[in-house]
Amino acid sequence: MLRAMSSPTTLPGEADLRIEPGKRLMLVTGRANRELGAKIADKLGVDLARVTTKTFANDEVYCRYEESVRGADVFIVQPMCGNPEEGMTANDSLMELLVMIDAAVGGSAHRVIAVAPWYGYSRQDKKSAPREPISARLVARMLESAGIDRLLTMDLHAGQIQGFFQKPCDHMTAMFILTQYFGDLGLGDLVVVAPDAGRVKLNKRFAAKMGADLAILNKERPAQQVAEINYVIGDVKGKTAVIVDDIIGTAGTLKAAADAVLDAGASRVYAAATHGLFSGNAFENLAAAGFEQVVVTDTVPLRPGAPDFIKVLSCADLLTSSIRQIFTDGSVSDVFGGENQLF
Ligand code: R5P
Repeated sequence: MLRAMSSPTTLPGEADLRIEPGKRLMLVTGRANRELGAKIADKLGVDLARVTTKTFANDEVYCRYEESVRGADVFIVQPMCGNPEEGMTANDSLMELLVMIDAAVGGSAHRVIAVAPWYGYSRQDKKSAPREPISARLVARMLESAGIDRLLTMDLHAGQIQGFFQKPCDHMTAMFILTQYFGDLGLGDLVVVAPDAGRVKLNKRFAAKMGADLAILNKERPAQQVAEINYVIGDVKGKTAVIVDDIIGTAGTLKAAADAVLDAGASRVYAAATHGLFSGNAFENLAAAGFEQVVVTDTVPLRPGAPDFIKVLSCADLLTSSIRQIFTDGSVSDVFGGENQLF
């Protein structure tokens, strides 16, 4: 817990953190990604607040703060993902986040901020067929009904999801972590490849940042969780292809994308994505596609059994900087030099 000081305080490795007298920051993590919560705590120079979380025999989740939250800005780190090592499904994590918000509100926190770098149900952001739910909107309503004051999230499947919220939504991006990594690899003649129309803007920005060419794939989904790519728009022949997506689910998209660019003459293929869910047969699909490396961030904990060609970069620094800015009423877009609105 970080307590207000009467004079400015400096935290390890960072610029001065000016805290108004009377303000108090509490950082707490649920079970979805404790490792990420611990990294952020370390970077902020605070201890994680003590909280009991558990699942009852009937599968209901429970939490209790073991110290007072009264008057504090409570930041709850909880991406809405499954965590097999904690026995958590994605729905458990969402529910746990909701009960942690409710308990913080009931305990008279000053502000409650959900730090959910992975926003569950984000792909269900519109009706694609009659009589479907808009589940991403429902999640927004649930978070607001539980009592959040703001949401801190990263690389939403569609930027418009921010519009489902009445409360402020700080939308960060991992793009610069990924471009920095690929820049440092020095892969030579690069082409950045959008696996579908939805990722064209992201890939355009990514390619511009890398000084690389852009190619676009024509993806169809003949059924849910089935990806087909029919042709490649752009020149990939003899180049290193980097396919950039927001999410890796079953990796059906990336498998089809890698097949398409290699068929079109790319010399080798890499992939990058913010959220590595790796659901279903993802590891097998990626191995069969022949990727040199697949790079993701730690918004979601890496599932057990991941092959060695998967590289995880941490987004803890970004989240830490954004938490600092929110707590001190600073500018979150300053963390990105104003370049965090990608779509
Ligand atoms: C789709 O529009 C997304 O941007 C991803 O391409 C998709 O969610 C990846 O899913 P999967 O890995 O199951 O193909």
